[in-house]
Amino acid sequence: MERTLPFRWDDDARTLWLIDQRRLPDEEVWVPLTSAHDTAEAIRDMVVRGAPAIGVTAAYGMVLAHLAGEDLDEAERALAESRPTAVNLFHALERMRSHKGDLEASLAEARAIWREVERTEKAISEHGARVLKGQVLTHCNTGPIATGGYGTAIGAIVEAYRQGRISHVWVDETRPYLQGARLTAWELQKAGVPATLISDNMAAHFMKLGEVNQVIVGVDRMAMNGDFANKIGTYGLAVLARHHGIPFYPALPLSSVDSKLDDGSAIPLEERSAEEVTHLRGVPIAPAGFPARHPAFDVTPHTLVTGIVTEKGVIYPPFDEGLEGALASD
Ligand code: MRU
Repeated sequence: MERTLPFRWDDDARTLWLIDQRRLPDEEVWVPLTSAHDTAEAIRDMVVRGAPAIGVTAAYGMVLAHLAGEDLDEAERALAESRPTAVNLFHALERMRSHKGDLEASLAEARAIWREVERTEKAISEHGARVLKGQVLTHCNTGPIATGGYGTAIGAIVEAYRQGRISHVWVDETRPYLQGARLTAWELQKAGVPATLISDNMAAHFMKLGEVNQVIVGVDRMAMNGDFANKIGTYGLAVLARHHGIPFYPALPLSSVDSKLDDGSAIPLEERSAEEVTHLRGVPIAPAGFPARHPAFDVTPHTLVTGIVTEKGVIYPPFDEGLEGALASD
C-alpha cells in the first residue's frame, strides 16, 4: 500500500518534519519543528492528529526539548496539555520520562515507540481483516497519516480488501473537521480500495438498505470495561449499528487502553472551538455570533461493541477479562 506518514525525523538536522494535515488533500506541505514548544502547538492546532501519531510526535517533542535546551519538565507539561483525550500521548510521555536528561536514550525511545506503532498495526490489520466481509463503514480517519504505521481500522480495511474479503467502504465525512472526507477518502483512493463518501447523517439510510455489513472505527482512549472515546459521531454509529443488527468493532493498539479507568465516564473529552462548527474551512455557514458546541469526541459504551480488535487478536465479551489478559501478556 502506498503510504504517506505524518512525520519524518531528519537525523542530520535533528529536526522533526510534520505533514500539515490541515491542508490535505489539497497540498502536501511539510513543517519543520525544532522545539517541544512548537511540537505542542502543532498537536493542539491539528497539524498532526490521530491517537498513535500524536503519541509518537510527543515523544519526538521531548527529544527536541533536549536539543533546544528547553526546561524538560516545562516541555513535558506543554506536550501533556496539547490535547486531552488520546491516552497514547500520555503513555508516550510516561515512557520518555525515564530518559529525561539523556538525549541519545530519548531518541532511541522515541524511535522504539514509532517502531512499535508499525509492528502493532501490522498485527491489528491482520486480526481486523478476519472480521470484515462485504461492505464496511468507517468514521473519522485511522490510516497511516493518523498513526505513523499502517493504520488501525483502515489498516484492517486495506488488508481485508487485499484478501478479497470486502468489496466496498462507506466513508463518513466526519463533521465538523472532515477527517473522513479529507483524509480517509484520500488514503483509500491512494490504496486503490473502492469507497464512497457519505455525510454522517446518511449512515442509517444505507444500514437500513442492507448495504453496511460491519462498522469499524478507531479509538482515542479505552477503559478496562471496553467503553471507549473516539471521534464525535462514533457513539451514534454504534447505536445505529445495534438497531440494524450490524457488528460494530473498535480497532486499537493496546497503548490506547487506559488501565487506570474502570469505565468510560472519566475519560476527558476535548471541547474544540465552536468556529469549527459555524464555519466550513473558514467560510461561515451559520448566522454571525450564533452559539455552537464542538465536543471533539464521544464515549461509546461497551454494551454496543461486538468485538475489540487489538494486536493480540479480537477480544470478545467479557471485555474486562479479555483486556486484562491482553495487557498482562504484553
Ligand atoms: O481529532 P482527531 O482527528 O485526532 O481524532 C482522531 C480519531 O478520533 C481517530 O479515530 C483515533 O485517533 C484513532 S487513530 C488510529
